[in-house]
Amino acid sequence: MALFEWDDSFSVGIEMIDKQHMILVRAINLMDMAVNANSSDRLLGAIFDTLADYTDVHFKYEEDLFEMYDYPDAAAHRQQHNDLLEKVLELKGDWEAGNAEIGQEVLDFLVDWLKNHILGTDQAYTAFLVERMRVA
Ligand SMILES: [Fe+2]
Ligand SMILES: [Fe+2]
Repeated sequence: MALFEWDDSFSVGIEMIDKQHMILVRAINLMDMAVNANSSDRLLGAIFDTLADYTDVHFKYEEDLFEMYDYPDAAAHRQQHNDLLEKVLELKGDWEAGNAEIGQEVLDFLVDWLKNHILGTDQAYTAFLVERMRVA
């Protein structure tokens, strides 16, 4: 069973963003599978890179929309993005330096923040952006 099962409650009502969130979910599930299969460090590193890079891409995409539509809570949301990305890069750095394993703890953290962010902070912009995008 996948570590993180997507269901419709995660939808933010904006197709492109849902797709990006699903890719992040898939990257985390892939990492979980790779860890459980005792995959090589090379493969784990590639998945970690993809996850970190794509997280960055996704955050920028949301932030561009905030700017485009004058989302009033953009600053606080951006701060959360920065904190999360920093944490992911820190975990990646620790792992690359050999100070940590990509174990259940890291995966649990990733699943947790993604769920909380998608279901919490991201849901906060849904109504505002959907309305703005509709009239734009
Ligand atoms: Fe998001
Ligand atoms: Fe976000």
